[in-house]
Amino acid sequence: MSTAPAVHDDRDALRSALAEVRERTLSLVAPLADADLERQIDPIMSPLAWDLAHIAAYEDLWLVHRHTGRPLLHPELAATYDAFETPRAVRGDIELLDAPGAREYLRDVREHALAAIDTHGVDPVVHPMVLRHEQQHTETMLQCLTLARLPGYEPPRRGAARPALGGHTGLESVRVPGGTVGFGAPGGVFSFDNERPRRDVEVAPFRIGRTLVTNASWLHFVEGGGYRRREWWSDEAWHWKEEYDITHPLHWERRADGGWVEHALGGPQDLEPNRPVAHVSWFEAAAFARAHDARLPTEIEWETAATWTQPPAAADAALAPGRYATSPVGAHPGGAADCGALDLIGNLWEWTSTEFDGYPGFVAHPYREYSEVFFRSGYRVLRGGSWATQPEIATPTFRNWDLPQRRQIFSGVRLAWNEETA
Ligand code: AVJ
Ligand code: FE
Repeated sequence: MSTAPAVHDDRDALRSALAEVRERTLSLVAPLADADLERQIDPIMSPLAWDLAHIAAYEDLWLVHRHTGRPLLHPELAATYDAFETPRAVRGDIELLDAPGAREYLRDVREHALAAIDTHGVDPVVHPMVLRHEQQHTETMLQCLTLARLPGYEPPRRGAARPALGGHTGLESVRVPGGTVGFGAPGGVFSFDNERPRRDVEVAPFRIGRTLVTNASWLHFVEGGGYRRREWWSDEAWHWKEEYDITHPLHWERRADGGWVEHALGGPQDLEPNRPVAHVSWFEAAAFARAHDARLPTEIEWETAATWTQPPAAADAALAPGRYATSPVGAHPGGAADCGALDLIGNLWEWTSTEFDGYPGFVAHPYREYSEVFFRSGYRVLRGGSWATQPEIATPTFRNWDLPQRRQIFSGVRLAWNEETA
């Protein structure tokens, strides 16, 4: 007896992916009082209720209005929840939907977006884009929740923690052979405009850190006067560090007995030597590199290092969206890239030396404000994704970016060396 082949419906896959990210969004804020959702926790972040309503407004614009022609559900809210018309700096001062109102907006738009899938199908660009938009905002919200240091807050953890492996410092390197390498997102799968077009580039052989730099190595830098040695800092970095009296990573705090704790989701913990140093700025990363006769990798080098002949299984990548914490460096040996570098994907975003710009032949599509408005404005590229990044985003070609002084992002440091100096 023959049976008809199972119809693989991308509508079903999309519906469950949308449901999954929504569950993540709501579970992150479920423990919070409305007042904590409505206040601006940090001047560089939005109130969390703004993120919620912005997610709804973006979905309404792209998956309902643009996809089907149906009018916006709340045209009067469009400007307030457009990232450019209402920049972060003013989001704490204007009237916003309260937390129940933002949740209701999310629910109402989702109903229409699902109906639009039934009537108008799935668009290969806008549906993956809107899915990733909400995924990216869950990471922004996690940055904000980490800044908030709310007593008793616990993220919705699932899955086991990794054992604390030792033996890596972040100062050991592996060699990456040079040559002609394909750079940029491949065709046939969703990618953002700034990852295209793919092209061949010539890369000289270089060395790159086997792992991210550990807390132990960073502590050595701190206690060895790393933040006081003028010669390791650029003029701009030194000025920033002096102005804000920066003497250690953002979430470190020195205890009365001289030991250190690290503030994280779920509260302060003793600083763990084997975890990668997190929440350092590009300025600090570059100073640390200079102190170690190293440099940051370019983004082309980073992407060249992030090559797998056999892609690692999820279990062997640091990427584990249920863990809500970094993994100790090198805890996922099965996820090693061909060059031997570990944890390139999904532990912390890795600063590169490259300023964010379009690739030659860049075409903005379909959301002009996604990348183009940030080109050549001093943003630095980060690669690899963090523990807070969803797998759809944390790919070897995805480009993140932030300003060189920013530390709220889940950022870490991987060093690089020219082959002849390593
Ligand atoms: C790509 C992470 C820099 O959060 O500003 C969210 C993603 N763009 N909404 C950001 C984004 C519009 C963006 N980053
Ligand atoms: Fe957004």
